[in-house]
Amino acid sequence: MIRVGVIGYGYWGPNIVRNFASLEATNVEAVCDKSASALGRLRRAHPGISTTDDPQEILQSPNIDAVAVITRVWTHYELAKKALENGKHVFVEKPFTSNSAQASELIELAERKNLKIMVDHTFLFTGAVRKIQELMKKGVLGDLYYYDSVRVNLGLFQHDVNVIWDLAPHDLSIMDFIIDQRAEAVVATGQCHLNGHEDIAYITLYFPQNVIAHINVNWLSPVKVRTTLIGGQKKMLVWNDLEADEKIKVYDKGVDITSPDGVRQLLVNYRSGDMWSPQIEQVEALRFELNYFAECINKNERPVNDGCAGLRVVEMLEAAEKSIKKRGEIVRL
Ligand SMILES: NC(=O)c1ccc[n+]([C@@H]2O[C@H](COP(=O)([O-])OP(=O)(O)OC[C@H]3O[C@@H](n4cnc5c(N)ncnc54)[C@H](O)[C@@H]3O)[C@@H](O)[C@H]2O)c1
Repeated sequence: MIRVGVIGYGYWGPNIVRNFASLEATNVEAVCDKSASALGRLRRAHPGISTTDDPQEILQSPNIDAVAVITRVWTHYELAKKALENGKHVFVEKPFTSNSAQASELIELAERKNLKIMVDHTFLFTGAVRKIQELMKKGVLGDLYYYDSVRVNLGLFQHDVNVIWDLAPHDLSIMDFIIDQRAEAVVATGQCHLNGHEDIAYITLYFPQNVIAHINVNWLSPVKVRTTLIGGQKKMLVWNDLEADEKIKVYDKGVDITSPDGVRQLLVNYRSGDMWSPQIEQVEALRFELNYFAECINKNERPVNDGCAGLRVVEMLEAAEKSIKKRGEIVRL
């Protein structure tokens, strides 16, 4: 049984506590939040869990094996560092840290102490993303051409980070998981309208072998859209995460260009075949992920969403931020 202490019971923390509390492999020993009203909510939902407003009680407790850091990004480094220094495994929210130097330091510290870091890249544990990864691994889509995602809605406005640091970690971590290659360069543009942080942004990532990715993130959209197009040489797919059923549709569509001997002109053939919607496993991603966290600790295995995966996402975020400040200048990774 992994004994977990959770720091942060704001918007996302309740989901973490509920899932850790319901798993056989984990037990929530204590929850810390500086806010009395947050602790009041916790006590009403989970009367058996002890509470504190002092993070040191969690970070130094001899009865806690792992600490979940579910606070704002600018606090992740300090809390995770103290947890690791005290010999605790760490489950930390996305984005991992505020900058790549902090992420590298935490990775090095965890390695030295043989402790696990898992970054909450929740989408990797959804049935949809696992199905997409499976299709790509099996070569169903053929060589990848592009990944194109729209992740927009009205709010939730964040006061401490821009829309890139809030929403783009989802797509960046998904790309990191399903695309074998690492991005080579980033171009990003964006604009602030309300509170000094970019509330709309467009990020383009260049990968080797002509693979290109584009992410549109926006807090000022009148409607919520969560749609990703993934195009390959053999097939193309559309993932609409807001669909209850048939979230993924795979299209047997594409273009073949040939130039037979002796024919000067290119022959363009458009393929338009069947569409099918693969079966997707219905699991609560967070439950799956937290169970996997306990498993990685018990089996001493490295999670796919380890500190290094968290660092790669932070590096892409930093590059995008740098590019935005220079109005779309290309930034190499
Ligand atoms: N994986 C996901 O899909 C997902 C979704 C939402 C949020 N998040 C991430 O979760 C993190 C938290 O976001 P949120 O929206 O829940 O924030 P929030 O502001 O609603 O909650 C944070 C809570 O932490 C508490 N807190 C902050 N510093 C503390 C400290 N030092 N000691 C004790 N308590 C402290 C605050 O009082 C607050 O209740 C962010 O990194 C965010 O990116 C992830």
